[in-house]
Amino acid sequence: MVKKIEINVSLEIFPKEEWLEVDAKLIEKAKSILEHAHAPYSNFLVGAALLLENGQVFTANNQENVSFPVGVCAERAVLSYAMANSPGVRPLKIAIVAKRRVEKKFATVTPCGLCRQTINEYEIKFESPIEILMLNPQEEILKASGIEQLLPFRFNDLNS
Ligand code: THU
Repeated sequence: MVKKIEINVSLEIFPKEEWLEVDAKLIEKAKSILEHAHAPYSNFLVGAALLLENGQVFTANNQENVSFPVGVCAERAVLSYAMANSPGVRPLKIAIVAKRRVEKKFATVTPCGLCRQTINEYEIKFESPIEILMLNPQEEILKASGIEQLLPFRFNDLNS
């Protein structure tokens, strides 16, 4: 008899009227840093804002390169910078917003595989989930309670 392992994942959807103040502020910061993205190749501008337990907020955007694979996503940029500068402080939540340069509406965005694995790394380090807030074109927040919702069956232990 073949057995099955099932993991159910979910995202919560928050219309603007239901946004927490803390989430609204983080989304706002991600929106403003998006404008400074270096994305001349994709014209897909991404902003990320990371809230730490001590109230610090770090922001970053995607930084592309003429040699495409060298480019860095907004999420990895902000996590690397924040964890380099506030290494002992637990990250609580990350907000991600995206927009195509020519469009007015925001684009749907979810972190890429590399960024999911990076978020996972800091969940392991701090033994605590990091909420992931993603804005959709209707300006609703899609909220994942932690990386498990986006990266089920993730690799998080070298020894087991
Ligand atoms: N990108 C991000 O910065 N974050 C995401 O979550 C999705 C993709 C960037 C990478 C590249 O510069 C551009 O968006 C198009 O893929």
